[in-house]
Order: sequence, then structure tokens, then C-alpha cells
Amino acid sequence: MAESLDLLPAARVDRYRVLKEQIQAVVAGEPSVVARFATAACMISHAFQPRFFWTGFYCVDPARPRELVVGPYQGTLGCLRIPFGRGVCGTAASEQRTIVVPDVDAFPGHISCDAASRSEVVVPVFHPDRTLAAVLDVDATEPDAFDAVDVAGLEAICACLLTTP
Ligand code: SME
Repeated sequence: MAESLDLLPAARVDRYRVLKEQIQAVVAGEPSVVARFATAACMISHAFQPRFFWTGFYCVDPARPRELVVGPYQGTLGCLRIPFGRGVCGTAASEQRTIVVPDVDAFPGHISCDAASRSEVVVPVFHPDRTLAAVLDVDATEPDAFDAVDVAGLEAICACLLTTP
């Protein structure tokens, strides 16, 4: 869907709305968190190709609760582990909030898994009991690729990912 580079904000709002409904429909009744994350990574990535260059999850490691370990993703090779507080993902995890980075070179401590990545957005994902499960990391090869529409759309998807029965 190369046209996603040119989608107007209203069209992207609509695409996120439909995407969220589709993801919810596919994961409904699925008890596996891995299956839910893999489904979401695939569907989010493909809904916004080629704008979304890397789309995936870094999960809280139950064996090392202050560390993220790579989960399901679509894209080039990602690093395996990120400590809380490091890079964009680790900062989003420790602060439990969405972080938009228009220029990865301007973010102190940014972890560069692929030099092609120029901007990114990271959104926390919570278990139904509100503890942190993971962060969703979406990278683009264009600088400043993510705006308020992306944040709202990705946050809405992340909010329902583990709470949809
Ligand atoms: N962007 C991340 C690292 C993971 S990759 O980009 C896949 C960060 O600085 O947290």
C-alpha cells in the first residue's frame, strides 16, 4: 500500500479505526499474548506499508523485570534486549508513556538497530491489571513521520490488544 505515504490525516484516522476493529476481531478469544502481538505487528505493519519500516514489540521479561526482550516484529533485524531507561523503548517502558521521536539522532541514547530508521514512536502496552506488558515500537525511514493521528491510532490499538476478551 504505497499510498500510505500520501494519506491525509482524515484517511489515516479512518484506517486506524478499521485496523483496530480488524485486530480485535482476529485476536478475540486468543489467550496467547505472543499470538496477539504477532497478529498486531503484522497487521499494523501491512496497513501502513511502506511508511512503517519496522513494527514490533519489546516485552517485559518476567525473568528480568527491568529488561525488555524482543517479541514479534516485522522488519529488519532488531536488537534482542533493552534495559529499562535505555533508548526510546526503555525510556517509554520506565516512564510508561508514549514517546514520539521525530529525529532519532537527537534522542540521547537512541539504540540504532538499523541505520535506515530516522524517526519512531513507542507506545506502552498494559495487561488488564494495568501492569506493563510490552512496548510497541514503530520506526520509519522518513524523519518526523509520526503525528498525533498515529499516536491516537496506535494507543487505541495498544489499549485493546490485551483487554479484548
Ligand atoms: N528504536 C529503539 C531500538 C529498537 S529498534 O529500533 C528496532 C530504541 O532506541 O529504543
